[in-house]
Amino acid sequence: MSAHDMKSLIEERVNTGLLGQWHPVAKSVEIKGTRPHGVKALGRKLVLWRDGAGTIRCLEDFCPHRGAPLSYGEIHEGNIGCRYHGVIVDGEGVVQRVPAMPECALEGRKALESFHVQEANDAVFVYFPSVERPEPPELALPRELTDPDWTGFLCTSVWETNYRYALDNLADPMHGCYLHSESFTLAFGSKQDLMKLDKTDRGFRIERVGQVGANFDWTEFEVHPGAMFCFLDIPYPPAAGPGGVFRIIGFTTPVDERTCKVFFWRMRQVTGLARESFRFLYRAKLEENHWRVLEQDRVMLEGMPDDARRREMLYQHDLGVSRIRQILTRAAKSQIEAELAAREAAE
Ligand code: FES
Ligand SMILES: [Fe+2]
Repeated sequence: MSAHDMKSLIEERVNTGLLGQWHPVAKSVEIKGTRPHGVKALGRKLVLWRDGAGTIRCLEDFCPHRGAPLSYGEIHEGNIGCRYHGVIVDGEGVVQRVPAMPECALEGRKALESFHVQEANDAVFVYFPSVERPEPPELALPRELTDPDWTGFLCTSVWETNYRYALDNLADPMHGCYLHSESFTLAFGSKQDLMKLDKTDRGFRIERVGQVGANFDWTEFEVHPGAMFCFLDIPYPPAAGPGGVFRIIGFTTPVDERTCKVFFWRMRQVTGLARESFRFLYRAKLEENHWRVLEQDRVMLEGMPDDARRREMLYQHDLGVSRIRQILTRAAKSQIEAELAAREAAE
């Protein structure tokens, strides 16, 4: 394979999303035992539902009979029934019944790909296997999501932009004091600085050199086998009560080449009565402010052309952006090499 072909394969993989990863695809409350729920991620259509035990099942959203979306169907005793001609498939993708046709040979056939699912902190994660990692590694979660001293809220949104721009945006703390300069919590801080990037145990940290604790000053990315996420802090106004800073945990899921779904948990380390008052205050007042800020990001990214990166002129502040791209490109390269090697071995 020519170097040029290899380069375009890598670019394509990065663009549609890395395999061998757990990606959040929905909120837990969206997946019910009464009707199926269709999602799109990494360019693939999937259907999710809860079986009789309440466990979430996930298959390709494709009926084995003639390809109707199973997400248009119904749930029958924990299995999914196609709306078109009634074929029933279980959570493993095996055809259980073809009600329209006695003793149909399709019954008992494993016809569809099924996916591993895990629920955590109000979100549903699906594992997208790769040749390198066909079986899911343990889902690595940020400690704030597993430590009971932290509490918060998950907010999700679909953005009409490639997920790479959403990641770039998170790796770019310098936009805070410009794009969000009108906002309640992000209006402070100087508008000129240098950035520095440091390696951490799990990934990297990008931060402003001259400003700490005034605004959105830094982001840390963690890259685990099978999961990548970031976190950052927003200083919290004293008027909003006791407790530490607002910590945002971010995951971005590629939907297709032009769309992504962002998952942001807004977390605070706050216990006891203060926790209850924070949760009340968040719903009553703060949530709206945060939506407004997030909308500023969405509108900006959606306004950028898909191929903006071909003409961009990066400068010192884009260290984090460059590092993200390097991480994605390296991972994609290794996935593609493993696929090519497996194909060669099979021939
Ligand atoms: S397409 Fe689903 S039963 Fe026919
Ligand atoms: Fe932002």
